[in-house]
Amino acid sequence: MLDGPAFDYIAGAAGRELTAAANTAAFERWGLVYRVLRDDSLTDPSLTLLGTPMSLPVLLAPAGVADLAHPEGERAAARAAAETGVTMVLSAGTSSSMEEVADAAPQGHRWFQLAWSGDEKLARSLLARAQAAGYEAVMLMGDCYRAGWRPREMDSGFSPFRRGHGIGNYVSDPRFCELAGLDAPGLGFREDPVRLEAVVSTWDRVLTKPALRPRDLAVLRSWTDLPIAVKGVCRPEEAKQLVDAGADAIVVSNHGGRQLDSGVAALDCLAPVVAAVDGKAPVLFDSGVRTGTDVLVALALGASAVMIGRPWLYGLAIGGQAGVEHVLRCLGAEFTDALTLAGHRRCDTLTRDDLVPLGTPGTGI
Ligand code: FNR
Repeated sequence: MLDGPAFDYIAGAAGRELTAAANTAAFERWGLVYRVLRDDSLTDPSLTLLGTPMSLPVLLAPAGVADLAHPEGERAAARAAAETGVTMVLSAGTSSSMEEVADAAPQGHRWFQLAWSGDEKLARSLLARAQAAGYEAVMLMGDCYRAGWRPREMDSGFSPFRRGHGIGNYVSDPRFCELAGLDAPGLGFREDPVRLEAVVSTWDRVLTKPALRPRDLAVLRSWTDLPIAVKGVCRPEEAKQLVDAGADAIVVSNHGGRQLDSGVAALDCLAPVVAAVDGKAPVLFDSGVRTGTDVLVALALGASAVMIGRPWLYGLAIGGQAGVEHVLRCLGAEFTDALTLAGHRRCDTLTRDDLVPLGTPGTGI
């Protein structure tokens, strides 16, 4: 279960939380128009994305410090994802290392999220470890090169990373240990204030590379054979530049409203990005997905799949692995039911024709 500060860390968002509220509200502006007299025996919601087979067009979004929600953290979530055929995108900011998570659910499908470190050797070491541990794609964190202004965290003064949570991928890395002056992977560093300070200040310094540009993606492309998805894209012209620079997929997301507050829903950015990418790469979506019909709406607007963030963390907090499994099974069953009722058998036949805009006439939304 979550205590107050931990709950606020997960549930909270930037500023007045207008963007987070807009993310979920945006789904209420679209209506699904169904078809009649259909065969309901053949629905198959599975798909393959960037070479990874998936039982549903739903992935677990990368979310750091899941051990705030449950002691088994990401390892429990990885097992739940494997049990349900769902792909987990492992955050860069996990308390277990990427190898420990892979060992927890060897049969599962996993992608790794890269925070592009300012230290090239560290970035390349993380990428090489991910590939060796069986991660099948890399998702570059494009939108979090600095943290958003999150009043709930400031009010409680709760900062999990400063306490040494969420840096499991780093303290297990030989290059990071070298940078932090640790003679061995930093197990037990949380209990030793001097080592904790060395680890956290080094992590803070090397976590991200300043001043990245879409064209820098070509460098990342040269470092790994894994498919690369870029997360956090909301502007059509940036999506196009990233695909031109070698991105294999784009993830439309505003980080669940945790970065820049203002009230622009991620869903409203989806169709323009899909149009700009023009079929050259799949477009994934997250921020505000809560129900099976939300998944349907996002797919009809052009997403190939969606990710969920807070819903799996809440499931984890309530029931560990079983809680995440429950979330995924309910979402999957509701989506499959809705897909069938809308008159489809597969995910990739949904189009804008399945939707009508609700709300203000003439605005298109
Ligand atoms: C996140 N998110 C996130 N994103 C990312 O790229 N790297 C990360 O480490 C994290 N960490 C993280 C922690 C917590 C507690 C939350 C709630 C979210 C954002 C996440 O990947 C996703 O974009 C949003 O959570 C999607 O919005 P919903 O589903 O939470 O509305």
